[in-house]
Amino acid sequence: MLGLIVYFFGLALCFILIIFAWSMIVFSFFGPPAVPTPSKIIKEVLKEISPQKDDFFIDLGSGTGRVVKTVVREYGVKGLGVEINPLFVWWARLTAKLGGLKNIEFKRENFFKTDFAKADIVFMYLLPKYLSKMAEKIEKEGKTGTIVVSQRFWIDGWEKYLIKEIKRKHNSTYTYQI
Ligand SMILES: C[S@@+](CC[C@H](N)C(=O)[O-])C[C@H]1O[C@@H](n2cnc3c(N)ncnc32)[C@H](O)[C@@H]1O
Repeated sequence: MLGLIVYFFGLALCFILIIFAWSMIVFSFFGPPAVPTPSKIIKEVLKEISPQKDDFFIDLGSGTGRVVKTVVREYGVKGLGVEINPLFVWWARLTAKLGGLKNIEFKRENFFKTDFAKADIVFMYLLPKYLSKMAEKIEKEGKTGTIVVSQRFWIDGWEKYLIKEIKRKHNSTYTYQI
């Protein structure tokens, strides 16, 4: 009996490892780039925008969820991470749970379909080709007053909304308010 349990456990583990390896290969070679925002920058940006307890914070393309986890843990906001890579979503959910975080959700979704009408703060670290499309969508669907943070890349045509720029050599942060 024990042998059978060990056998099935081993089989399940192999299956998980295969799925994991498959996702890593597919997303590394064919998926969008997944460079995380350094922790020091996340803290600096959050200090600058100073999120409030009842704010709804969304990270579009949340990766392993470090931005959302940090803002929920340190500022007590309601946080949502939207990410297309299922492996990242799984990891973000697991680590948020292990960290005992409440009011946090990670959705496996294409951010072009995300409803952020209720968002108070939207964070993005995206390539300019995605960024300009998302900016259009946010301008159309977001509520007035929403703060939009773009890590590393400025948003073309949004100079009128720019409220703060944190200059760094290769990694500036642009904060807008629509
Ligand atoms: C540069 S990483 C940023 C990760 C995280 N926001 C951070 O700052 O640490 C961009 C993330 O966007 C995700 N992504 C790209 N296109 C997406 C899409 N259409 N829908 C949802 N997520 C997407 C990628 O998988 C990647 O994890």
